[in-house]
Amino acid sequence: MSAGGSRYRLGALAVAGPALLGLSLLVAGCGGCGSNTEYPPTLTFPPRADRLVLKLPDKPAPGPNRSGKRDDDVAELDAHGGRTADPPAVAGLDVFLKDTFGTPAAPNDLHAPFKLTKAHLAEGSKLYKRHCADCHNVTGDGRGQKSGQFVVPFPRDYRQGAFKFVTSGAGLKPRRADLLRTLNDGLKGTAMPSFALLQEGERDLMVGYVTYLAARGQVEFEALRAQTESQPNDFAARLKAVLAEWDRAEAAPPLPAAPDDGEPDTPAHQEAIRRGHRLFTAKADDACANCHGEYGRKPVFRYEVWGTTAKPANFVEPQFKGGARPEDLFARVRFGIPSAGMPAHGAPKYTDRDVWDLVRFVSAGSAPAKLPPDVRAAVYPNP
Ligand code: HEC
Ligand code: HEC
Repeated sequence: MSAGGSRYRLGALAVAGPALLGLSLLVAGCGGCGSNTEYPPTLTFPPRADRLVLKLPDKPAPGPNRSGKRDDDVAELDAHGGRTADPPAVAGLDVFLKDTFGTPAAPNDLHAPFKLTKAHLAEGSKLYKRHCADCHNVTGDGRGQKSGQFVVPFPRDYRQGAFKFVTSGAGLKPRRADLLRTLNDGLKGTAMPSFALLQEGERDLMVGYVTYLAARGQVEFEALRAQTESQPNDFAARLKAVLAEWDRAEAAPPLPAAPDDGEPDTPAHQEAIRRGHRLFTAKADDACANCHGEYGRKPVFRYEVWGTTAKPANFVEPQFKGGARPEDLFARVRFGIPSAGMPAHGAPKYTDRDVWDLVRFVSAGSAPAKLPPDVRAAVYPNP
């Protein structure tokens, strides 16, 4: 999987996007949705009003978030040792954001890579309003007025520029291909649906618009946080740094190829599962079992950077949000999910081979027949 290759391929498809969009609207025979597919030209992005999460509590989270109570749950962080604050007034911020980013219906050209041009963003805006805004909302705050409020886990709030399912690196932005995979496959076990039935060009336009909202939201978030902490505030420098983060992710090296361990029942593969199990249960600060207790049957919830909580995956009944292919799992383990409190498992402590071993174990965990007998006895003590 080469990042460069997919960029060119997408480039060609995006050109076809608007034409395909027109076609799919015709086919859908969208009665009366004309006014529904575009944001009103007078609408501006509302300034951020919900609390900023400045510091997370150091301890595990108490449990899942409460449906419809996102902001209440965030406000409770202070009582658990975290720190939140109302957004302060920042002179010139609204004007900077409006001049730089434009409005929901008429986004400005960001003069950046990733096709963040006026034309692409204007098309992306319509598609986003139609397919995403019910959950992710106008600003991308994940507090959509319809479904967005009530599904748990809550829809992603893009406004800190933080994501979960990346193949770029620990704590890095997603590659464009990562966001496209999320849209194509959805996130299993959550409300985030698959948009595989749309044209690839349409998904590409929406991914561009998500990048735009994430950049806008992150500039706003960081400017508000800097003001709260009495730090200097150079909005233009901030925007440049944010766009450079996206660039860096796109240029990250590809994942290493999976070793050939043969079929799951071969001795080499069984040995890899056994080594993976040993690493999984080892005594270490970043050992899997600390959070994925009893192989995930007894998860220890973690706080997320948004002030929400995440439940560590269950490997006995897995629903991997970011995909179950070996390369998906390799990226999850290697780079962690820092925004959800799962640490990276980096070199030199964990070699590529160690991470593949963990992947072999995790992939087989739900199928007792695929486990070596000693591992099976540990994972399924009461068969
Ligand atoms: C029915 C609600 C719903 C709709 C509609 C929806 N999403 Fe989501 N989306 C979610 C939820 C819930 C999550 C977060 C799941 C989690 O963090 O476990 C999410 C997460 C995401 C993420 C974050 C992935 C990551 O790596 O962190 C992206 C990007 C995303 N959605 C894009 C979109 C786009 C683009 C659309 C429209 C094409 C869309 N979503 C429509 C509910 C929705
Ligand atoms: C400090 C806690 C913590 C540790 C240690 C940890 N994880 Fe996680 N892990 C999490 C959390 C929290 C999630 C859930 C993220 C979400 O669903 O948003 C998760 C999710 C996952 C997922 C599922 C990703 C998906 O696509 O849904 C895999 C796979 C995973 N962890 C593997 C591991 C392995 C293997 C180890 C040890 C090498 C490990 N984790 C160590 C907290 C942790």
